[in-house]
Amino acid sequence: MAKDKSIFTCTECGGTSARWMGKCPSCNAWNTLIEGSTEPAAGKNRFGSVHASLAPTSEVLPLSAIEAADFDRHPTGIDELDRVLGGGMVEGGVVLIGGDPGIGKSTLLLQAVDALQRSGMSTLYVTGEESGAQVAMRSRRLGMPDSQVPVLPEIQLEKILHTLQARQPGIAIIDSIQTVYSDQLTSAPGSVAQVRECAAHLTRTAKSTGTTIVLVGHVTKEGALAGPRVLEHMVDTVLYFEGDTHSNFRLIRAIKNRFGAVNEIGVFAMTEKGLKGVSNPSAIFLSQHSEPVPGSCVMVTLEGTRPLLVEIQALVDSGGPSPRRLSVGLDRDRLAMLLAVLHRHAGVACMDQDVFVNAVGGVRISEPAADLAVMLAITSSLRGKPLPKGFIAFGEVGLAGEVRPAPRGQDRLKEAAKLGYTVAVVPKANAPKKSDKSFEGLTIHPVERIEEAMQVVRGLD
Ligand code: TYD
Ligand code: MG
Repeated sequence: MAKDKSIFTCTECGGTSARWMGKCPSCNAWNTLIEGSTEPAAGKNRFGSVHASLAPTSEVLPLSAIEAADFDRHPTGIDELDRVLGGGMVEGGVVLIGGDPGIGKSTLLLQAVDALQRSGMSTLYVTGEESGAQVAMRSRRLGMPDSQVPVLPEIQLEKILHTLQARQPGIAIIDSIQTVYSDQLTSAPGSVAQVRECAAHLTRTAKSTGTTIVLVGHVTKEGALAGPRVLEHMVDTVLYFEGDTHSNFRLIRAIKNRFGAVNEIGVFAMTEKGLKGVSNPSAIFLSQHSEPVPGSCVMVTLEGTRPLLVEIQALVDSGGPSPRRLSVGLDRDRLAMLLAVLHRHAGVACMDQDVFVNAVGGVRISEPAADLAVMLAITSSLRGKPLPKGFIAFGEVGLAGEVRPAPRGQDRLKEAAKLGYTVAVVPKANAPKKSDKSFEGLTIHPVERIEEAMQVVRGLD
């Protein structure tokens, strides 16, 4: 029965087949057939209504004639979450929250939805992974035994859609999208086809009813496949949990937001009573060394609007015939590049050494402003000499050995000065004017080239 409704489409050539085959019958590519439904609502047009709701009139109008209504936002009251959302949940918006299993997605959303329910909004929590009793147990643990949030333990899409239509809640949580399945497709719940199809239906419902829908997605160990990444293009906001499940701190980063800034970061601490926002997170990504140790350099990163101090650690140790380069929280290809620059322009050779680098606390740093700190940490580990106490560095390093400015360098320096740091090596273009008094207590060494930075550091020994 259900088989009749399915069709398999090749992701390479667009050719179709009535059944799944390993090889596309049209272009002979392997493993490219993906299941989809032939029903008009779910076929080629399934995003039609999404676009329709963005522009509810079918007339063609000049931009100036269209009223620009601001979004209706509902702050959750959890400040760090509202910050990454760009001010709160938006009516009819679809938010995807991804992250490793066990990192705290269900905890945070239950806290948020309970706060919204208390503020008078109608809510719905659809749980596909846990029973109602398990969710109730969590709510007790979170200190809200009297929570009025309606819970629907359900995994079948059609029933979920029916409940959404009937109740028209202000906000609905789908925990998780990977457990939801539609009868229209034969593939198993959690497969790419199911996840995509179900999310498309839910997105359409959000747009047509004005319900905010939050989809929870697990990041699978194998990578992107069937994980939340396949949904990124169809939702309005994508948030990812970062951080190491062994430490208490969790970061939420907005990587796409149609209603706010991207790369904004929310910082939380996992406590006995759920996730608590950390409003002044600057110094939590530092390890506590009583005395400086070799291989450690603190940088100021600025992803989003807040500067954060993060410790970069490096360990350089004699390796075997094919030395290893490993990085945690930093880009590995960039590490290889920095090692080449270090050798060529600063005469620091690690060719026969294993090199490991790590951003402390499970934070992921994607900005090139980490380059200088990574290189100084590596050199410090290789020489077995710690950087001075109270030392920070940031700046991008180019292939020619030049040190390039980082965006909003002065904000970074201000944060370091505020936290009592005393010595900074920074790109020349980021150095403040001599007359500027806001960096009192911080000796700033502006540099233009990597070899210059090395010299400054040797001079500080
Ligand atoms: P959970 O929200 O279930 O993770 P996810 O939905 O992302 O899979 O969080 C699971 C972890 O959080 C679990 O290991 C227990 C811990 N936890 C606390 O430390 N304190 C709490 O108050 C709660 C509810 C959970
Ligand atoms: Mg969960």
